[in-house]
This record gives sequence, structure tokens and C-alpha cells, in this order.
Amino acid sequence: MADIRPVGWDDGEACVVVLDQTRLPGERTSVACRTVDELVDAIERLVVRGAPALGVAGAYGVALALVEASREGWDEQELNRSIDLVRDARPTAVNLARGVDLARAHVPAGLQAVLAEAHRIAADDEAANRELSRLGADWILARVERRPLTVLTHCNAGALATSAWGTALGLVRELHQRGVLASVFVDETRPLLQGSRLTAWELEQEGISYVVQADAAAASTIARGLVDVAVVGADRIARNGDAANKIGTLGVALACRDAGIPFVVAAPATTVDPGTAHGDEIPIELRSEDEVLSFAGARVTPVEARGFNPAFDVTPHRLVDAIVTEHAVVEPDGTDVVARLTGAASPRAPHS
Ligand code: MRU
Repeated sequence: MADIRPVGWDDGEACVVVLDQTRLPGERTSVACRTVDELVDAIERLVVRGAPALGVAGAYGVALALVEASREGWDEQELNRSIDLVRDARPTAVNLARGVDLARAHVPAGLQAVLAEAHRIAADDEAANRELSRLGADWILARVERRPLTVLTHCNAGALATSAWGTALGLVRELHQRGVLASVFVDETRPLLQGSRLTAWELEQEGISYVVQADAAAASTIARGLVDVAVVGADRIARNGDAANKIGTLGVALACRDAGIPFVVAAPATTVDPGTAHGDEIPIELRSEDEVLSFAGARVTPVEARGFNPAFDVTPHRLVDAIVTEHAVVEPDGTDVVARLTGAASPRAPHS
């Protein structure tokens, strides 16, 4: 079983260490972020990416800010300004702000308390991902008749995008382990190829059969009956069940609804945002136009061309058949999903 852990803290060097996802699958190298600026740069360049992984990186970022503050003699204002830089590095994934806020609350208690909180966030994320994978697999197997079944996924919601195991791809791993998975259609994910580079690499490690397709092929693949269920991750889930995820997800959901196959969103409860009423309120990151005007680092458009590069889209709850967290599988109907998805509605006994 591949054990991929994209974010960690190096006690000896007192720095955040991230697996460099811009170099995968060609090179497996890590980047040591020794300053807040280096961490912010790594987050902005997608060296570390994926909502839950950003939450963990954000929490370690608070520890890093404390270390840098004591090294550089920062006052409280400078420390808070630096922590805010981490918090604001990417706006759509609510996990980033949440991870920073949770860790920041421990700043008065000192570095070890902040680190303990960051470690807890990472451990809880892995446990959540494993549990939501089980719940999601149960729901899919009850809903989809064909065996073995074929899944489509968009972007990378695997171990690389979390503390470990993965959300949508964790669910795919669970189906594989149960012996009911035939294959996975992996959308390449333009413009940064998280699907072809990262999801394909993870499935390769796992020995799961897959094929990479252009994002533009997804609707046709679904319409032709080649897919039984689509499973994607999320960067933020609003109170009414609207869900933001990688640009192109909405098209997958529309195609699934038209074809009558389930469209499933898998995410830990930390991605559910009680502060966002519906999808229109979710801030959508607009990235550099160069990412769509260039291919493999070389400009491909006429020099006058301008680019439009939203990193995420919002799938309205009416197109989502199920949202899976570690607490529940909810079939959204426009009513408030927060209590059920976060376990606030019926607290479960802790696992023994
Ligand atoms: O821009 P990215 O690569 O950070 O986008 C990632 C996604 O859209 C993921 O699907 C989402 O964060 C869920 S990760 C478990």
C-alpha cells in the first residue's frame, strides 16, 4: 500500500517540508520551507495543493511564523501579518483558513502547542478520509448495480491533496480493495494537469487500472455509458450543498445528470463551511492567464491573446447526488447540510 504524505514538520530544522507536486511524476523531491514567504510561494505555485493538504500546511505555517518571529525578533503585529499571508495564499479551499485559525488559537500557548494542534489536524484528516471512503463506497455499491464498476474522477483528490489516503481517490482505493473496481477515467485537468500527473501517479502506485482522458472527453465518455459513477473532491461546501471544486467539475456533473449516473462529492467535514450560505458566496481563485496561454512552458497563443483562468467552479446542489464526509452521506435537497455532514446532528461514539 503506497503511503504518500505530502506535508510534514521537520523538528530538527524547524521548517515545513512538502512533497513538490510540480515535479511529479518525473521527480519525487521535497521542498523545505524555512520562512513564511517560502511557504506562501509553495502554496501559490501548487507545490503543495488540495484543500485538506492546504489545511495541514496552513497549520504548520503558523508554527513556522512563530519560529521566524523568534529568529527575526518580530512583534505581535508582524507575526499576525505573516500568519495572514499564509491564510490568504489561496482563497477557495476553506481548509486553509480553517487550519490557520485553529493553529493560531494556540499561539499564546507557544510553539509546542501550535505544533500539537497541527499534528492533530493532520491525523484527524487521515482518519476522516479513511472513514468517508468506507461510507462513500457503501453508498455507491447500494446505488450502482454494475460489477465491477468504472469511476470517473476530475483533478486530484488523492493522498497528495490531503494529509494521507485521499478523499475522492481514497474512495476509489476503497472500492479497489473491496474488489469491485474495474477502472478509473482520469480527467487530465487543465491547465495544470493534476489528473494526468498526480492522480495517474497515485493510481499507478496502487496498481489500479486507469486511463487518462482530455477534460473535453468526459461528457462524451459519460454519455456513451462508459462510466458508472463520478467521484470528485471539494474545496468548499456551502450550507445548501453547493460545492466548489477544480474547474471542469461542473461539466462532469451536468453530463452525469443527463446520463442518469450518480455524481458524488467526497470531502472531510473540515471542507464544509457553515459561513457560506450558497455557492455564489464562494470566492473563486483567478490564476495567472499564463497557465492557459502556455503549454509545457511555451506560449501557444498569438501574443495578443488574453487568458481567463478561474481555478474552480461551483456545482449546484441540485446536480449533486451525494455528499460524503466521515460523518454521513447526504443527498442534498437545498436544506442545510452542515449539521449532518459535520456530525453536529448526531454525535457518534468515538472509535475504540
Ligand atoms: O488547485 P488544486 O490542485 O489545489 O485543486 C484541488 C482540487 O480541486 C481538489 O479536488 C480539492 O481540493 C479536493 S482535494 C481532496
